[in-house]
Amino acid sequence: MKNLFIATTLCAFLGACNSQVATFQPGEIWYDTNQQMINAHGGGVMIHNGTYYWYGEYKGDSTYHAPGVEWDCYRTEAGGVSCYSSKDLQSWTFEGVVLKPELNDSTSDIHPSMVIERPKVIYNEKTGKYVMWMHIDNYNYSKAATGVAIADSPTGPFQYLHSLRPFGEESRDMGLFKDDDGRAYHIYSSRGNSTLFIHLLSDDYLEHTGQYSTNFAGKYREAPAVFKRGNKYYIISSGCSGWDPNEAEYAIADSMLGTWTVMGNPCIGENSNKTFGGQSTFVIPVNPAKDQYIAMFDKWNKLDLINSRYIWLPIRFHADSISIEWKDQWSTNDF
Ligand code: GAL
Repeated sequence: MKNLFIATTLCAFLGACNSQVATFQPGEIWYDTNQQMINAHGGGVMIHNGTYYWYGEYKGDSTYHAPGVEWDCYRTEAGGVSCYSSKDLQSWTFEGVVLKPELNDSTSDIHPSMVIERPKVIYNEKTGKYVMWMHIDNYNYSKAATGVAIADSPTGPFQYLHSLRPFGEESRDMGLFKDDDGRAYHIYSSRGNSTLFIHLLSDDYLEHTGQYSTNFAGKYREAPAVFKRGNKYYIISSGCSGWDPNEAEYAIADSMLGTWTVMGNPCIGENSNKTFGGQSTFVIPVNPAKDQYIAMFDKWNKLDLINSRYIWLPIRFHADSISIEWKDQWSTNDF
């Protein structure tokens, strides 16, 4: 850590880091370019005009157990959605809280007493809008809805539109995937988290179309992270054990709506049955032509949620199968 700090400080001083190769230290504290800990949990990365934008949950700095809720419901004040930008995936500049919480209206979906989780952003070429979808919930997660916000710039400000349950069905943990043909899909845990829905969005990405599939029924998959390689689609997901880690699983399909074939746990080696202590959130297609993809996981600290860490690891391909191995440190040269 000390070495990383010295390197970061030197880089900031000399302004010479852009030419260096990005080095990741999974599970360690990750500082932004202002030497503040990155606060972007359950996040995702949008690649846009040569810049990476990392959006995530901006967690409040005190964690408490939701009063009167029986399960392990630790929470923080919902601080909105943060955004960090980068050219190299390692050095991240804080762009601010791009979806601000609504502090003055306690009935708002985005009041700090609510839950704003797993935000993802995609750009709509037709409307020129940046569209964010997120999990919106109340203190005991019984609202089970999804919220949508739009902006004219990747760094916001995002305007919150509303929350909804897609075609009346619950929506909790979620992901978003924009395909090469411009179609976008909302992927969400529903029906008491037992079933993963994949739902085609409208052309403007603001509504659900009613064209959807129900997947892995009864398997309780959460934290979906979708990517595409060639003509194959992949979903990495977690099991359902709250903030505690469990075994990841991945599935492959020839089309987004399925049929999905379950392939097993992508993680290998020590602690792989607990996803190295992490939970999936997103896969960054860094350079698909060269099979360069990064799997993003959150390593939750349920008693101090703001102090949760990030685990970013490269995905390796073996024909259509994938594997993810722990690395204490790695760089984009190791792809
Ligand atoms: C997890 C979920 C997290 C958060 C947590 C609350 O299962 O993946 O995003 O909702 O439960 O306990």
